[in-house]
Amino acid sequence: MKVLVVGNGGREHAIAWKISQSPLVKELYCAKGNGGTAKIAKNIPIEPIHVEALADFAQREGIDFTIVGPEAPLVAGIVDEFEKRGLKVFGPNKRASLLEGSKAFAKEFMQKHQIPTAEFHIFGDPQKAKNFVKDFGLPVVIKADGLASGKGVFICKSYEEAYQTIDKLMVKKVLGEAASKVVIEEFLEGEEASYIVMVNGDRYVPLPTSQDHKRLLDGDKGPNTGGMGAYSPNPFVDEDTERSIKELIIERVIKGLKEEGINYRGFLYAGLMLTQKGPKVLEFNVRLGDPEAQPLLMRIRGDFCEALLNFYEGKDISLDIDQRHTLCVVLASKGYPEKPEDGKEIKGLEEVEGMEDVVIFHAGTEIREGKVFTKGGRVLNVCAWGENLKEAQEKAYNAIKRIHFEGMHYRKDIGYRALLHFQR
Ligand code: AMP
Ligand code: GLY
Repeated sequence: MKVLVVGNGGREHAIAWKISQSPLVKELYCAKGNGGTAKIAKNIPIEPIHVEALADFAQREGIDFTIVGPEAPLVAGIVDEFEKRGLKVFGPNKRASLLEGSKAFAKEFMQKHQIPTAEFHIFGDPQKAKNFVKDFGLPVVIKADGLASGKGVFICKSYEEAYQTIDKLMVKKVLGEAASKVVIEEFLEGEEASYIVMVNGDRYVPLPTSQDHKRLLDGDKGPNTGGMGAYSPNPFVDEDTERSIKELIIERVIKGLKEEGINYRGFLYAGLMLTQKGPKVLEFNVRLGDPEAQPLLMRIRGDFCEALLNFYEGKDISLDIDQRHTLCVVLASKGYPEKPEDGKEIKGLEEVEGMEDVVIFHAGTEIREGKVFTKGGRVLNVCAWGENLKEAQEKAYNAIKRIHFEGMHYRKDIGYRALLHFQR
């Protein structure tokens, strides 16, 4: 069969890598892919957001199954467009994608369906937002309603900072229409967890747990990014916690969607804070996380394409999970996340390719005349398997020593929270 993966990040390279191992897959395409997918799939020069052009391509090529990686095409309605044309595609439709596309929608949905989340208020007027915030406890969290590539969340420690944030978002409109509404919410404390499931109507299948590292700098300092590294499993999600996540969050979402008449088929990502009072939702994403997908897919054994197809068709499936631990470190360009520099040659990749228990997923890379160059903020994902988290961490950082590009930077402490807490 012919499979198309939509997207060009590390997540999509990991999806393509996993799918390419399936004997069912005869031809694999990636739109528009990167320097890594170029080696295992045919890169198609169509932007992920050009949903009609992608549907035209899928029809013309006779693509049997499409998997959508990023949120933007999902929110833009790629699934509706494909389904209209009778094309099989795994991902939620436009209406269901509002769970990620609008934080205001997601918060109201959670309130209505009694899904635990931070207390919140929604504002479309900057003055009203400021009047409200002055009586709210500190720190206060301010979020742009719409998509902002991980740059729409602000944790303000003073009222002055909160006013400035509201001005930046709603008056100066630095994120454009994404912040025409803002959500102001309570600051939650605890460990974070990314809990991702595959959903098809009433059915769901949990994927391995993971923890992302969203801040740019070691020790969780600096601005939020799309994610600087992740690992799986997430040991903070013990059995009891997982049971609460399923009962209080995932199953209520599925029931709520049904009540709203929304049919959901695709990955569903609950970004959680594990608080003293139990797990609470920070956000929903309607896709796999990036970089969480990388360590997570590395732990799925067997034919994931077949499993996904069966699940898509409404059959029950069970996944065979590797008990080893996986860890992924993001290598970023100088200037990321604000203004990443492009066009730097990457050296040392061949050396790492032969290393045991290590795999590299490309994100912002391209190949020119046989050489690999940076093209984007997050450039490479260096990932490893280990018998425990510490071993996976050591193997990943050992591989990184051999890779170089000008301005390369990365966090040196991916996995530290679990290692500190569980001391292993
Ligand atoms: P989000 O995009 O909503 O997941 O937010 C990005 C990151 O900001 C999260 O992963 C958390 O680290 C942090 N964050 C978001 N909302 C809150 C909150 N209510 N309390 C504490 N931290 C938060
Ligand atoms: N790593 C967080 C996300 O994919 O949204």
